[in-house]
Amino acid sequence: MKTNCKYSTQDEKLLMLGSMFENIIHQFKQPLNAINAEATGLKFQKELGLIDDEIFDNSLTNIINRTIYLSDTIDDFRDFLKEDKIKFYFKIDDNIKQIESIIEPLLKAKGIKIYKYFSNIDVECFGYGREFAQVIINILNNAKDAILESGVEEKIINIVVKDTKNDITVDIYDNAGGINDDILPIIFNHHFTTKEDNGGTGIGLTMSKNIIENHFEGSLSAKNIQFELNQNSYYGACFTIKVPKNIPFNQ
Ligand SMILES: Nc1ncnc2c1ncn2[C@@H]1O[C@H](COP(=O)(O)OP(=O)(O)O)[C@@H](O)[C@H]1O
Ligand SMILES: [Mg+2]
Repeated sequence: MKTNCKYSTQDEKLLMLGSMFENIIHQFKQPLNAINAEATGLKFQKELGLIDDEIFDNSLTNIINRTIYLSDTIDDFRDFLKEDKIKFYFKIDDNIKQIESIIEPLLKAKGIKIYKYFSNIDVECFGYGREFAQVIINILNNAKDAILESGVEEKIINIVVKDTKNDITVDIYDNAGGINDDILPIIFNHHFTTKEDNGGTGIGLTMSKNIIENHFEGSLSAKNIQFELNQNSYYGACFTIKVPKNIPFNQ
């Protein structure tokens, strides 16, 4: 059944910003602290008359490099919030690499490992690339939340991209223990959330399903799976995006 909830571009932008907020904070805090420490150190050393040209140059170079990093990071995030005006072919691999610059620093800091498998690294998809990326970000954010909530020691997210005759499928699964059978049929419902106390909105999956069904003529589904990795067995939720391959529609 198709989701009927209609969102404006503005809503989508806000959701996109919201879903990246924690990542933005994470990527800004550490360099800002480092710049602050460097400048404070310089000031202190000057007051004590300890400063020489080498110390001065090194400190300023560190500060400059960190501001360049911050500026590049702003560009990455701003790029993501731009609206796609036309549909185009995009490589799923490039799409996921772009997402990594946004989301991976935070996931790594939380000890989560992402494993990626492609049956064909060059597989392309047709449509709004940023919307597709947004769906993947939503699913990854949910996996992160579930993993941290579950308290599992080893933290794993897998992304498996398969290129079949007519479709491309992207499976994203984690080892957080899965979704209870009683809520599995309703997780895509508008405003359904189990994170009421932690700022959950219950919009991410509804909007993701909406994007995949209405803008990609595909499907988004969820189930629980058991999987093996390095001879260990894990259990968690698996989200599957399925889109028809290389078929331009509704241009
Ligand atoms: N990987 C997952 N593991 C377990 N539960 C999940 C997972 N992904 C989504 N869910 C469930 O689906 C619900 C709805 O997700 P979503 O629409 O993104 O809203 P929100 O993240 O704001 O709660 C979540 O509150 C959670 O209960
Ligand atoms: Mg969510």
